[in-house]
Parts: sequence; C-alpha cells; structure tokens
Amino acid sequence: MTDTVAFDQQNNRLVIIDQTLLPGELRLLSLHTVEEIEHAIKTLQVRGAPAIGVAAAIGLAVLAKEIAGNYEQTLQAYAQQLKSTRPTAVNLAWAIDRLLAGAHDPQSLAEKALALWNEDVATCRAIGENGAALLRAGDAILTHCNAGRLAAVRYGTALAPVYVAKEQGKHVQVYADETRPLLQGARLTAFELAEAGVPVTLLCDNMAAALLQSGRVNAVFTGADRIARSGDCANKIGSLGLSILSKHFGVPFYVCAPFSTVDGGCATGENIPIEQREAAEVTALWYRQPMAPAGVGVFNPAFDVVPACNITGIVTERGIFAPTELPIDAK
Ligand code: MRU
Repeated sequence: MTDTVAFDQQNNRLVIIDQTLLPGELRLLSLHTVEEIEHAIKTLQVRGAPAIGVAAAIGLAVLAKEIAGNYEQTLQAYAQQLKSTRPTAVNLAWAIDRLLAGAHDPQSLAEKALALWNEDVATCRAIGENGAALLRAGDAILTHCNAGRLAAVRYGTALAPVYVAKEQGKHVQVYADETRPLLQGARLTAFELAEAGVPVTLLCDNMAAALLQSGRVNAVFTGADRIARSGDCANKIGSLGLSILSKHFGVPFYVCAPFSTVDGGCATGENIPIEQREAAEVTALWYRQPMAPAGVGVFNPAFDVVPACNITGIVTERGIFAPTELPIDAK
C-alpha cells in the first residue's frame, strides 16, 4: 500500500492518504498551504500520533520554501499554528521542535523532514521486531483504534509486531474494536489488515468484555499518543476500559510506541491534555440522520489515560520495558 505520509520534493508538496475516505476510497491529497495542512490534521485526514508528527514536519518544510518575506517570524507562526492543531499526541510538537532545532533555512528543513520520515519507518520496524517476540504462531490479539501503518509512515506501532510476525511465518489473527465515535478500528484497522492479508475480526467496543472473557485473545496491543514519566499512557478513548477488562481477565496489555511519544516533561497521566471533540461526531457523523435528539449534551473526549499499573509492558524501538522502568530524561 502507498505510504500514509510522503514528501513530494519535486513539486514541494506534503502528500497524505485522505483517511476520512477510507475504506471506500483510497485518495491521495497533495497539500502546500498552511490552511490545507491545518485542516488535514484537525479533521483527521491524517491521524495517528507518529503520522501527524511526520506530516507536520514535512508540511512545515513545504511552507518554509514558499515564505516570501519576514522568513523567521512567518516560520515560527506556522510552527505554532500546526502545533496547536491537536493537543494530546506529543509527537506533533516533538517533530516540529526537532525540525526547528539548529539551522532553519528551507534546504535544512527539507533534509530534516526527510530524515524524520526515514526515522519513523526504521523506528516502527524496530518496534515490530521487538513486539513480534511476544507473539506465537496462531495467537490472537485485540487492538483498539488504528495504530497500524495508517497511523505512521509504514508498519505502525501496535500492528507492526503483527506485520513482522507474518514476515517471520508466524501468523497471528487480530480482533479490532470498531472504536466509537470515529470508527478508526472499523474503517482503518480492518481495511489495512485485510489489504495485508492478515485475518481480522471486527467487534463493537462494548463486545470486548465478552471477547476477553471467552479466552480467545492472547494479548491486547494498543498504541499511545503520550506517555508520562510515571508510565501512564494516553491513547484513543476506550483504551482505559480495555486495560481494566484485560487486568480483570488476566490478559496481558501491551502499549507499542516510539520514544518520541514519551513526554519527559509530563509527570503523570493527570498532566496529559485531553482533546475534546465536537458533539456531532457522536450524534450524527456516520449516520444518514441524527441518532440523538437535537441539542443533547455530549461527552466526547478523544483520548483517555491507561494507568501504568494496568500495562504489562511498553514495546519501543529500544526494547520492551515495564511502564515504570522506561529510561526517561525529565525535561
Ligand atoms: O484520533 P486519532 O485517530 O489520531 O487517534 C489515534 C490513536 O489514538 C492511536 O491509537 C495512537 O495515535 C497511537 S498510533 C500509532
């Protein structure tokens, strides 16, 4: 499949798969204005913690080349505008800060954006290799949201071990939570796994307890959007509940994430900013007609926090760590 995020240097464009159209249509978007890039991140045309970091970095490099005057001030304003598109995934700010560290000229930014793209591919591959060691042929895992290749440049995080295991001849099947309200599991995880020839079974989020109770799942694998020093991990809304269920039924719960998702400046999960999204995503977005009375109050946090005590291990590019033993430098 096409890479989720790419840098078309010849035409100076950020190229993304429009994930809002999947699974119905695989369409690429070529973006070059700050409004287009901001819109793409806010509306989840590109989404997933590593993918929005790489997309913002490439986007900023694209924008830098087109700045006509007042270069430094305009560049910083663009950087702030992109950073504020989504608050929870720390990879976004991390990637922009990495881009702006050191030389700021357009050529240096383009080279650094490309390096970040390559780093994401290598990092996710390493997560896949480390996580694949946890899997045996015939295992079944349960995953939540989309932390596969569509959430990064390639491979993804939580699904990278499944792809690597498949290459190693260890076939693993995946149960995918549909992931209300935006259906990343149904629309994206089921799509990308089916494309890759990995057996995938979809379930509604409220069926996870019954599935875990049935004993059919060997482990739960999720991604993360921000990891605090305490080992608490913010991830797609529903991850907290899944971690509680996993603990109850004695199923190991693994979080797969690169070190760019670790926020050394964040002491515990309580310090992680949680994005609140529009009510219409719950009441109307995927329906032909509204499924709730007009004006009803809606609780729609996009993420929740899995406490370290519910996590069996964090699978990173540097190995697998107990959540409280991640090697982290406080910022
Ligand atoms: O709102 P989204 O779709 O960007 O949320 C994505 C998730 O929560 C993923 O599970 C997380 O980014 C980890 S992905 C590698």
